[in-house]
Amino acid sequence: SKLAIIGVAIDLGAGTPGVSLGPAAIRFAGVTERLSNIGYQVEDMGDIVAIKPVSPHTDGTNLKNLDEVARVNNLLCEKVSTAMSANLFPLVLGGDHSIAIGTIAGVLQHKSNLGVIWFDAHGDINTDETSPSGNIHGMPVAVSLGLGHDRLTSIGGTDKKLNTKNIVFIGCRDLDAGERKILKELGITVFTMHEIDRLGMTEVMTRAIEIASNGTDGIHVSFDLDSMDPVFVQGTGTRVPGGLTYRESHLALEMIAQTEKVVSAEFVEVNPIIDHKNETAKTAVALIGSLMGEWLI
Ligand code: ARG
Ligand code: MN
Ligand code: MN
Ligand code: MN
Repeated sequence: SKLAIIGVAIDLGAGTPGVSLGPAAIRFAGVTERLSNIGYQVEDMGDIVAIKPVSPHTDGTNLKNLDEVARVNNLLCEKVSTAMSANLFPLVLGGDHSIAIGTIAGVLQHKSNLGVIWFDAHGDINTDETSPSGNIHGMPVAVSLGLGHDRLTSIGGTDKKLNTKNIVFIGCRDLDAGERKILKELGITVFTMHEIDRLGMTEVMTRAIEIASNGTDGIHVSFDLDSMDPVFVQGTGTRVPGGLTYRESHLALEMIAQTEKVVSAEFVEVNPIIDHKNETAKTAVALIGSLMGEWLI
């Protein structure tokens, strides 16, 4: 089968610079060869490149770099949609997590009832009103539900949004007060580290897959490397102790692969500048292998 690699060289949605080099780091770690080796026909569609503005606040909001984050995500939405029109599986490489806005908007052009499994230490469900930082990488889930600034929610069309009952979070352990409130009000399922410790990853993923599958026409996997324990991922900007182990992360992605319902994926927040010997990008490539069925005999 055919797969498109789409890089997004952007760190303007994050508080720490450096994840704009994520796509280069992941390519250097051998993502194309890894996927070719298991039988994929890989088309590298290159990178969308963000340009840092002189000031992050030229656009009259509390959101940092809104103009450029919106421009990049509009382009990404089109590129993902183009890939899917050509029957290519879009594999998006970040970049900060604000790019989920464009990826999901692009996939929604083709799959109107999309399920999402979101791996993250964070909720990424702040709006312009609740965000403590103004960093847009803390907002993509809200935007994909139609909540937040209209420069962002309009990307891909205000009618093409996710359904709260088909989104599920894995690995959360750092939620802001405003995010807890939104998650509770919307009734979104969150498997925090507590549930993973208590139930084990197998049971958590069985439940998560059910939520993302029920009545949907495909599953999107959004994997923030900071969902993992910082012991395994030095090269990511918003590290939180007590995360997923290496084995738990692979098991989760392997179980998702087995459903054969995955239609798109993104791996984000790889920051080679603060990493050691590109290990976080190498981990990302290994995780991509698991999601794409490398472990199948
Ligand atoms: N919740 C915090 C914020 O809104 C941190 C978000 C971190 N997000 C991420 N994609 N790493 O600023
Ligand atoms: Mn500010
Ligand atoms: Mn995160
Ligand atoms: Mn995130």
